[in-house]
Amino acid sequence: MSSAPQNWDPGHYLKFQDLRLRPALDLLARVPLADIQRFTDLGCGAGTVTPYLCKLWQNAWAIGLDSSAEMLHRADACNPGLNVHWQQGDIADWSAPQPQDLIFSNAVLHWLDGHQNLFPQLMRQLAPGGVLAVQMPNQFAEPSHTLMREAAFDGPWAEVLKPLLREAPVARMGDYYDWLSPMAASVEIWETTYAQILDGEDAVLDWIGSTALKPLLEALDQSLRDEFKAVLAAKLRKAYPQRQDGSTLFPFRRMFMVAVVPA
Ligand SMILES: C[S@@+](CC[C@H](N)C(=O)[O-])C[C@H]1O[C@@H](n2cnc3c(N)ncnc32)[C@H](O)[C@@H]1O
Repeated sequence: MSSAPQNWDPGHYLKFQDLRLRPALDLLARVPLADIQRFTDLGCGAGTVTPYLCKLWQNAWAIGLDSSAEMLHRADACNPGLNVHWQQGDIADWSAPQPQDLIFSNAVLHWLDGHQNLFPQLMRQLAPGGVLAVQMPNQFAEPSHTLMREAAFDGPWAEVLKPLLREAPVARMGDYYDWLSPMAASVEIWETTYAQILDGEDAVLDWIGSTALKPLLEALDQSLRDEFKAVLAAKLRKAYPQRQDGSTLFPFRRMFMVAVVPA
């Protein structure tokens, strides 16, 4: 269910920290839980969102699970004294040590395939009345991602890059409803497009460079990488032109869901 593991650069990823945090807080605002005993921040990354969960549920036993040692190291270093059990592991094989009152997963599950099995499997890790709260980018049909594919398919790098291009991992809203609702007392699903305003030259390239584009760049040697980046940058500049004030508007679609299991 897990795709090939990706290397993460916490410094680059956190460059856009405020824009990446906003959807996590929008999701958190919809979690209908007061007092809980156990939660997991699934794919906690550099521990940016975990302190917000800990603040809401101060007495809960908290797990921050991630597959990346670099991200976990950063999470631990940036949150001294936070009462969280940081654990390295793959979500695809994860079973909660005890049933969880909340599994919160922000910007993670689109890195895994096989959602039809994964989402019910996560629901089975919940205690009665527990909540699965998920946010995933749903940007795969938007220019930032279609142009990346287009550039990857057309050049001397194509043979190297093609195997690294993933099919869109996020399913339709109705599919998630069908997978979750037989196990749930309630399911809420919604999408939001954030009009992200980025600064600097080639800002969209910079944004995707810390996530979806990263494995492609890492697969190429320096000269091919520079050439591929230049081709992609030109395409992205046309799709997302820099505005007169120097900023770039980067609309970004995200899917959210909150499923509550019966009490
Ligand atoms: C985009 S970051 C989001 C981090 C954090 N949830 C946040 O909102 O700041 C995605 C994280 O998912 C983790 N991840 C991706 N696939 C994973 C898997 N199969 N198992 C565990 N963690 C995974 C990555 O290591 C990375 O830290």
